[in-house]
Amino acid sequence: MRQITTVGVIGLGTMGAGIVEVFARGGVQVVGVETTEELAERGRGILRASTDRAVAKGRLDEAGQQEILDRVTITTALADLAPADLVVEAVPEVLDLKHEVFSALDDIVAPDAVLASNTSSLSITSIAAGTAYPGRVVGMHFFNPAPVLQLVEVITTVRTDDAVREAVVELAGRIGKRPVVVGDRAGFVANYLLFGYFVSALRMLEQRHVSREDLDTAMRVGAGLPMGPCTLMDLVGLDVCHHIGDVIYAHSRSPMHAPSPMLERMVTAGLLGRKSGEGFYTYA
Ligand code: CAA
Repeated sequence: MRQITTVGVIGLGTMGAGIVEVFARGGVQVVGVETTEELAERGRGILRASTDRAVAKGRLDEAGQQEILDRVTITTALADLAPADLVVEAVPEVLDLKHEVFSALDDIVAPDAVLASNTSSLSITSIAAGTAYPGRVVGMHFFNPAPVLQLVEVITTVRTDDAVREAVVELAGRIGKRPVVVGDRAGFVANYLLFGYFVSALRMLEQRHVSREDLDTAMRVGAGLPMGPCTLMDLVGLDVCHHIGDVIYAHSRSPMHAPSPMLERMVTAGLLGRKSGEGFYTYA
């Protein structure tokens, strides 16, 4: 397996743009792809804003910022991914869309290039069905905010080649992340447990057992977590939580993941968390 020195990232939303930054900071050449010039420009904006913030906080100097930006090319042409040793897709969580992307990549990248998915909930085995070479498919699951959180779950299927797993684990370590290798089951490890915790928190709110503020304070101050569950769901996005929770429940059928009516109503009402300006809390 060749060492991964050039990567592609498809989809430059919050996660995709964060992943581009992580790779570029780690010294890797990155090609980011979006579907329209407008979305590509939004991706460039997220990258610039995040590195500007690092400069403003004195964590990065301007020359360092320029080096990071110079390692990144953002384009709307999938064909520009041809030199990539690894492509990470971060497109919306729709299986058909992921299949379309992986099948198109079969004709673009080298046969030994790795195809990775940043999916939070879909089965990597099902996604791998979209490519002619399932042995080169892995999950590479980053956490939000990707530039800050160190964990990367490397998800293998029964078809994943050992050399592919090893190359992705090596890359994750090289860019300063902490990889863990996990099997392909809904929610993998972190989201399986985290979403059970979210559902338990939502049940307490539905039963008016505690206020959202006191619930968050209990977990932050009492359990030493950086933020309580309501603040964290607002960060992740309530629509994203709803969708991931449903997929995990569909597979686990465990009561710990059973859908929350409260979450469903909030999403229907357009309360999506930070991104919509209002969720459990209101954001300026
Ligand atoms: N992008 C880049 N950097 C960011 C950032 C972002 N979106 N948000 C915060 N940061 C940086 C800040 O610049 C700051 O850096 P310095 O210390 O070097 O100045 C640092 O992170 C800490 O930020 P703040 O001081 O603003 O606030 P904080 O100490 O409360 O940290 C936090 C913010 C990193 C988000 C922290 O609260 C945290 O880790 N929360 C938990 C997040 C979590 O659990 N995420 C997992 C969600 S589940 C998931 O992602 C899986 C999935 O599939 C859905």
